[in-house]
Amino acid sequence: MERAAVMGLGTMGSGIAQVLLQAGFTVSGMEEDAGRLESGKQKVLGGLAKAAEKGKLSAADLEAARGRFRTTTDVRAACEGADLVVEAIVEDMGAKQRLFAAAEKVISERAILATNTSSLSITQVGSALQKPGRCVGMHFFNPVPVMQLVEVVRGERTDDATVAAAKDLVKRLGKEAIVVRDSPGFASSRLGIILGLEAMRMVEEGVASPEDIDRAMELGYRHPMGPLKLTDLVGLDVRLAIADHLWREVGEQFRPPQILRRLVRAGKLGRKTGAGFYEYPPEK
Ligand SMILES: NC(=O)c1ccc[n+]([C@@H]2O[C@H](COP(=O)([O-])OP(=O)(O)OC[C@H]3O[C@@H](n4cnc5c(N)ncnc54)[C@H](O)[C@@H]3O)[C@@H](O)[C@H]2O)c1
Repeated sequence: MERAAVMGLGTMGSGIAQVLLQAGFTVSGMEEDAGRLESGKQKVLGGLAKAAEKGKLSAADLEAARGRFRTTTDVRAACEGADLVVEAIVEDMGAKQRLFAAAEKVISERAILATNTSSLSITQVGSALQKPGRCVGMHFFNPVPVMQLVEVVRGERTDDATVAAAKDLVKRLGKEAIVVRDSPGFASSRLGIILGLEAMRMVEEGVASPEDIDRAMELGYRHPMGPLKLTDLVGLDVRLAIADHLWREVGEQFRPPQILRRLVRAGKLGRKTGAGFYEYPPEK
């Protein structure tokens, strides 16, 4: 695999593009909107520069990585001849299916199509393809350049060769893979979301402040980050979409609390908008 297309350059896509570039891929980053494309591009370039500052990338490798990065607003142009398509667009089944169906028309014969969905069915995303065996879940974690885990999710029709290619890719990126069957929320989101939702219900009930609930898990259970801080990092809108999906698919324990809906309606989506369960003053 040499040529990758990364669809959506938001929180996750920009990190995925960065680690692929650092691993030597030629990467086409795609956003539908020109303004978002430009800000996604800057995120990727900023991430690469930060990696170089930290000594993870030599000056020559930084230059080479920049040279292998292209951006476009056109699905076809992004995916033409690609060996790997990773999508990190909005958590919406129809949008992901449409994107993969369009990508499949122009990718290389051996290419795989990986979705970074946190909760949707890989089997269903792949059902829009001529060759559903090429579709696999590659669930990265936030922030992508830092987090070690990638959940490789095997859909009902995913080929063994596709799973093997995804696992090889994870290794090439210097990360660790676990392989999970296609079931709602996989292994990580299913456990992570339930903790986050319960913490929100505790805030609603006035059990303790967000700071103290987070500290309970950080100091008492050695979690590196409490569930509310983590929700702010992931994005409240993203977590709401996942919770709604798991509520429908798995059961009542995933019903999103009102506080989550209220904050999302108010545009308090977490770090990315400057406020969520905590406030984030703009960086100077
Ligand atoms: N945020 C997390 O911590 C996290 C972790 C793991 C997986 N995910 C999953 O990754 C995906 C993206 O999440 P995110 O947090 O990066 O969201 P985000 O909102 O930060 O980024 C999504 C980007 O995709 C773009 N986009 C939307 N529709 C598009 C389309 N049709 N074509 C091209 N670009 C399009 C948007 O403009 C936006 O920039 C979701 O499926 C989410 O569930 C998120």
